Amino acid sequence: MSDAQVKLAVIGAGAMGRNHIRFIQEEPEAKLVGIADAYEGAKKVAEEAGVPFYQDAAQMMDELQPEGVLIVTPNNLHLTTAREAIKRGIPTLIEKPISDDLEDAKKFAKEAIEAKVPVLVGQHRRYNPFVNQAKQMIDNGELGKLTVSSFHYMIYKNDGYFDVDWRRQKGAGPILVNLVHDVDLLRYLIGEVDLIQGMSSSSARGFETEDSAVVNVYFQSGTLASMTISDATVSPWNWEATAREDPQYRPFDADAYFIGGTKGSLSLPRLHKFTYDGDASWHKPLRMDISPVDPQLPHKMQLKHFVEVVCDKAEPIVTPTDNVKTLQTLTAIKQATETGQLIKLEK
Ligand SMILES: NC(=O)c1ccc[n+]([C@@H]2O[C@H](COP(=O)([O-])OP(=O)(O)OC[C@H]3O[C@@H](n4cnc5c(N)ncnc54)[C@H](O)[C@@H]3O)[C@@H](O)[C@H]2O)c1
Repeated sequence: MSDAQVKLAVIGAGAMGRNHIRFIQEEPEAKLVGIADAYEGAKKVAEEAGVPFYQDAAQMMDELQPEGVLIVTPNNLHLTTAREAIKRGIPTLIEKPISDDLEDAKKFAKEAIEAKVPVLVGQHRRYNPFVNQAKQMIDNGELGKLTVSSFHYMIYKNDGYFDVDWRRQKGAGPILVNLVHDVDLLRYLIGEVDLIQGMSSSSARGFETEDSAVVNVYFQSGTLASMTISDATVSPWNWEATAREDPQYRPFDADAYFIGGTKGSLSLPRLHKFTYDGDASWHKPLRMDISPVDPQLPHKMQLKHFVEVVCDKAEPIVTPTDNVKTLQTLTAIKQATETGQLIKLEK
């Protein structure tokens, strides 16, 4: 290990925290210096990693003085710990979503700016090179003016997943539990949202929370999109099954997002681009091009970016202020599907 390595500590050594621990151990520019978890049983994770264990994250920050911390606790606890970190001037990576409380997230976003401490939110799909290639193609105007797009999260969660009470109750459901990544990419690729409409149903599983939903989105730019959301549908049309980001899902050759414009359209994650040679016309043969892209594991790219943020070599690409907009969109989706009303987002 070299002294040039950035000293990082992980707070929350659950399922995702253990992934982050492994990513840090595999990153040559970073060094894991400590682990905090409120649950004493997590001590063995620290023992295996050969670093000190703390049950109190603030005490760990005071004693170990890490150069950066990763907060990987449950969503409702993110900001309490993040406030402790920024109070100590420690650059912080907070797992997505920044909070389950929109108002507190807005408050924290202001506090982080005032404290001048860099805070990165862990929306890891932003580091997927296929996503960034798509973003470049859209921004270059290769698709023309964006018209209509569709984003799909259609997946089947195993029935045993719902043996845990909260997963069947209000507050759970695929909109609040899973859609944060898709909404983040919807905003990143297409733009800021103006209006949301939607419907939801719980007829497949009969639980209190929705198992399926459809959503219409009107963006500030005038472009439109629809989202189909279901955790009770057997299909390959979801990011998890198609993007090869997570080995838990067997990869399938299909797409989850379809983005359309006046000059071309694009499917993701495979990056199939459809255009016409010369002027567009429905009577001409369509051509399909596939951009060559080097695959990279987004979580590892995110960690490299965080190391640069800690070293003051980069600004966080997903700030709390940005993540608040994703939370506002998610809240509007939930509200629209529950009330049937057209919801206008705050600017
Ligand atoms: N980006 C991704 O791909 C991804 C994937 C899964 C989860 N996540 C996010 O990671 C976070 C954690 O999710 P998870 O599935 O690992 O949950 P988890 O329940 O498996 O782990 C959370 C851990 O935090 C610990 N904890 C609770 N309170 C604490 C406190 N005050 N201080 C220190 N530790 C505390 C718990 O004991 C537990 O070990 C969530 O924000 C979730 O949204 C992100």
